[in-house]
Amino acid sequence: MRLVENADLSLANTLQVPSHARWLLDIESLKDLHVLNDPRWDGRAMHILGGGSNVVLGERIDGVVVRAALRGIEIHTLPDSVEVSVGAGESWIALVQSLSEQGIGGLENLGLIPGLVGASPVQNIGAYGVEFAQRFAWLQAFDLERGELRRLNSQDCAFGYRDSVFKRNPNRWLILTVRMRLPRPWRAELDYAGLKEALGDETPSPNSIHHAVVRLRTAKLPDPALIPNAGSFFKNPEVTPDLFERLRVRYAQMPAYPTAKTDRKKLSAAWLIEQAGWRGRKLGQVQVSAQHALVITNEQRAGGREILELAAAITRDVEAQFSVVLEREPVCIG
Ligand code: FAD
Ligand code: EPU
Repeated sequence: MRLVENADLSLANTLQVPSHARWLLDIESLKDLHVLNDPRWDGRAMHILGGGSNVVLGERIDGVVVRAALRGIEIHTLPDSVEVSVGAGESWIALVQSLSEQGIGGLENLGLIPGLVGASPVQNIGAYGVEFAQRFAWLQAFDLERGELRRLNSQDCAFGYRDSVFKRNPNRWLILTVRMRLPRPWRAELDYAGLKEALGDETPSPNSIHHAVVRLRTAKLPDPALIPNAGSFFKNPEVTPDLFERLRVRYAQMPAYPTAKTDRKKLSAAWLIEQAGWRGRKLGQVQVSAQHALVITNEQRAGGREILELAAAITRDVEAQFSVVLEREPVCIG
């Protein structure tokens, strides 16, 4: 267990928003869980933080910021799958790289997504044609509302596109361990636009696909270590066929994708934002990336409020032009 009073979180979030928490508590093992019931926190809000790559932090966070810092990776080889149990505090990027290098396939399309393993179920991370939910077995979490340990299966988690029970009930479940099931035999997923081309002549393997994904992502997205950002700032909107047809008549080039729901089409938020004239544009100290219109960058280390003001201006303009309401992807804390 690690407890810090008046903790500086400026480098604990990839937007590098200046932020302080009254308390920062790292839970390092199951034995630490009793600290969550400490009378010092009575009446104070608890906020769960991971690696800070999908959050907009407030300047002063009153209450306790809790991180699940449990470590450890266990690999179990079964007849029809490889199951991997991982502590919430492990790095997602390092996990995917290590499994891909060992030839254990299933997560390679999700390479180079920043953050910790404990956050991967929260928005059901997805990229290059694969979603976390497809590889999920179960997880162990501490229910902060009831003060008890629980094991949650796929149905309990109610995964959707960038959505889950955790995203809908913020700060209730502290995810501690995640168990993934990677089917055997392994099958390459190469359908996402540009992935086959990025692989080139290489034989598809977990490692070669992981490298191709890393190459694609590095070319498309600004590196948060150099240019503070939180990845996609908005979800890709899902619209009714009626609105889709009306927009298609006016904008013949508009990209659109099928969704799991037959009565919805997915549009590209980046495309809508670019058409609304926001790609590369600045408001105050914050900017829409010129590299990718779905990314807000914070090179001047502005506060969360300025970032949300830019997001609101983008949302307003996109709605005025397309009648589409963009939904924010990162979570606001404090
Ligand atoms: P945080 O940002 O710290 O937290 C995010 C949310 O999860 C918060 O609501 C927090 O309360 C909750 N949370 C965190 N840990 C726990 C826990 N242990 N228990 C319960 N709740 C918890 N996302 C994608 O889906 N696909 C992408 O391709 C992608 N690309 C990205 C690229 C860049 C450059 C960046 C900066 C971000 C990208 N993201 C992407 C978003 C981000 O990487 C993921 O959402 C990631 O899972 C967040 O992990 P984190 O540990 O940083 O969580
Ligand atoms: N596009 C533009 N302008 C831009 C960038 C893209 O018009 O500046 C258009 C292009 O038509 C392009 C299309 O948008 O073909 C899609 O772009 P891209 O392949 O980069 O995917 P995305 O929809 O912008 C989504 C996820 C990413 C994920 C990638 C790859 C969401 C909100 N974002 O981005 O996830 O890595 O697909 O699968 O679903 C994240 O969630 O933080 C994230 C980065």
